[in-house]
Amino acid sequence: MAIEKRILITGSTGLLGKGLLATAPRSFKIFPSYSKDLPLDKERRYHRIDITNIQQVADNFAKIKPEIVIHAASIGNVDYCEKNPKEAEKVNVFGTQNVIRACTKHNCQLIFTSSNAVFNGLNAPYSETDPPNPVNYYGRTKVIGERSVLKANPKNVVVRMTLMYGWNNSNQRSNAVTWLLDRLRRAEPTKLVNDTYVNPIYNLQAAENIWKIIKLGKSGIFHLAGRDRVNRYEFGLITARIFGFDDRLLEPVSSDYFPGIALRMPDTTFATTKMIEGLSSRPLSLQAGLEFMQLQSP
Ligand SMILES: NC(=O)c1ccc[n+]([C@@H]2O[C@H](COP(=O)([O-])OP(=O)(O)OC[C@H]3O[C@@H](n4cnc5c(N)ncnc54)[C@H](OP(=O)(O)O)[C@@H]3O)[C@@H](O)[C@H]2O)c1
Repeated sequence: MAIEKRILITGSTGLLGKGLLATAPRSFKIFPSYSKDLPLDKERRYHRIDITNIQQVADNFAKIKPEIVIHAASIGNVDYCEKNPKEAEKVNVFGTQNVIRACTKHNCQLIFTSSNAVFNGLNAPYSETDPPNPVNYYGRTKVIGERSVLKANPKNVVVRMTLMYGWNNSNQRSNAVTWLLDRLRRAEPTKLVNDTYVNPIYNLQAAENIWKIIKLGKSGIFHLAGRDRVNRYEFGLITARIFGFDDRLLEPVSSDYFPGIALRMPDTTFATTKMIEGLSSRPLSLQAGLEFMQLQSP
């Protein structure tokens, strides 16, 4: 089979990266990378690329000679970014600029992964043409990244995702579902907020759509999300039911209950029209996404 493209993935040990590696088309030559934790996956050779180290980025681009870069490396913990703005800026803004510079030098298309946190959550559902208006530091770093990426090359892509769930690598951060499953397994009572809404996306579906964007030669902004709009409590109830746990362990509370550091957005549900029409993709219901996830339990 002829190899069509050489594709470098930053952040390939994270939740999206894991999905990208699991669904990568065989006709692409994939170059995964990591920065801190050596991945447990022994079947692939990971390149060490700390995106904040400009020399390491330059050396790896010269060696790998990618034609496309999927940039999924990021600090994505919203409260951590609020508490550690310098570190968040270093990775999410300056690291992204290092990747953009290398892409420009090597004439690569860049697929930048962004977030629903670029919106304030007051005017859902959000489409790709709505103006960003972030309320927390993480969201601001993503907006800066998006603008720089789109300005650098008209072929570049910004892929915004809503809350993502799926099986993460065990040495990486958990997500709404894996975190809750750990608690339910221990029969721990858990409070979940019932006043912030999103349409969560399964990591494998997000990844498959990114491969479609590449295959179809798309550029510009894409929103990727699931079919169902839920709050975290409703999401928890469906998760408990599908994985066979007692949902009476779950209690709804308002966001005020958790004195979070970063401001949260009330409703950042995405419109999925462009995903459906532009990528011929059908957003998965939560029931279907969680059932797929259960089938793939590690
Ligand atoms: N998860 C969500 O709910 C969600 C929602 C919307 C958008 N997104 C976006 O989707 C993308 C992927 O998110 P994710 O949840 O898959 O990420 P994640 O699971 O939190 O993993 C983060 C990844 O970034 C890498 N990374 C962190 N600092 C780095 C550095 N200095 N240099 C190179 N790599 C570094 C980590 O690798 P090491 O551990 O090796 O450092 C890891 O692979 C991000 O752009 C995120 O903003 C995520």
